[in-house]
Amino acid sequence: MSGENNKKFIVHPGGVIQGELRVPGDKSISHRSIMLGALAEGTTEVTGFLEGEDALATLSAFRAMGVEIIGPDKGKVTIHGVGMQGLKAPQAELDLGNSGTSMRLLSGLLAAQDFDVTLTGDKSLSARPMKRVTDPLALMGAEIGTSDGKPPLKIQGGNKLKGIDYDLPMASAQVKSCLLLAGMYAEGKTSVTEPAPTRDHTERMLQGMGYPLDVNGSTVTIEGGHKLEGCRIDVPADISSATFFMVAAAIAPGSDVTLKHVGINSTRIGVINILDLMGADISLSNETETGGEPVADIRVRYAPLRGIQIPEDQVPLAIDEFPALFIAAACAEGRTVLTGAEELRVKESDRIQVMADGLQILGIDAEPTADGIVIEGGVIGSGEVEGHGDHRIAMSFAIAALQAGGSIQINDCANVATSFPGFVELAREAGLNIEVIDE
Ligand code: S3P
Repeated sequence: MSGENNKKFIVHPGGVIQGELRVPGDKSISHRSIMLGALAEGTTEVTGFLEGEDALATLSAFRAMGVEIIGPDKGKVTIHGVGMQGLKAPQAELDLGNSGTSMRLLSGLLAAQDFDVTLTGDKSLSARPMKRVTDPLALMGAEIGTSDGKPPLKIQGGNKLKGIDYDLPMASAQVKSCLLLAGMYAEGKTSVTEPAPTRDHTERMLQGMGYPLDVNGSTVTIEGGHKLEGCRIDVPADISSATFFMVAAAIAPGSDVTLKHVGINSTRIGVINILDLMGADISLSNETETGGEPVADIRVRYAPLRGIQIPEDQVPLAIDEFPALFIAAACAEGRTVLTGAEELRVKESDRIQVMADGLQILGIDAEPTADGIVIEGGVIGSGEVEGHGDHRIAMSFAIAALQAGGSIQINDCANVATSFPGFVELAREAGLNIEVIDE
């Protein structure tokens, strides 16, 4: 369960990453399949659904609001949609665990229902900023109480929302999606303009389910009062989970790995672009489209990496991939500089500080800055680092061991299950020498 802090990884050095692997389903698309499937008319059949704690938190929340959902069973979920007005008041607060996506998207969707509802989360989620959604929702007429801008969110039902034009102050797909979901219930049109492109899975799925939407440059406009139709959704493998094996193969001499059927939506491929700039050997094959999303097999073979200045336009396109990319930077020759990434400080942990602390413990020169980090490539040593209950920190330090001088112990790893159930087994299959200590 998320929140437990007694799981440790001990990862031994050496190892080569090889084989054909399929990582679990995309987390963002899995969340959205439940949300939109629940509000649709008719049945939505999902395959490839991520059976991780975050997506399951969304699933449980909709069950608690009266939606009949069958599964998940080997990635298959059947959602019997209740229509736009069919949700029922839950009997209790909705506990969304570690999942920021659940909380931020649901805040928009629930702001216009005729019942009150409270959204809560674990320690990490309870410390994350929510004014970024409650401020614009208040402009639409919503009433949402917070604890000093943080969860729990107490959403008051019975408010009629009106459309707004909103310029997002930060590049955030969660805030954009929150306002689009609220906009489905608002009177008139809601327009959201983003400062840089962010993942567009909400827009694609809305259109795929028959909800009209206008995308014009950096502005998305939605009009209230239309309907969603149930459909089939094939969720591709999550590029954010594939990233750990891409970086692992890129840093470990002799490696050659292929990640199958991975989502390569252009708003998600910053990791490919950045690794490519660093000199990684990456090739794509079997490119096709499934359920409105592009997918491909991604092959990565070892090649020496060099440090780079990471282009700022890649930051939103690789926002979840930086912990792993910092490991690539630590193994590269020369200096890697990241700027324009202050959002990393408000993820499941402060990913700039936490990664800098861990890298320093392992003997790497890593200097945090207000909006990024400077990493000098070097020799990774052994040591004990903290996972801080952040799934992506734990998995990043796990792959670092491939190139370490001795074993790395990572504490507080239970939350790996939020996004990547089966990580340890797949990592072993790929060639990582990883032990789990469950106390
Ligand atoms: C997500 C958007 C991103 C990302 C998160 C998932 C989404 O968050 O970090 O893991 O599914 O919309 P921000 O919108 O806060 O950047």
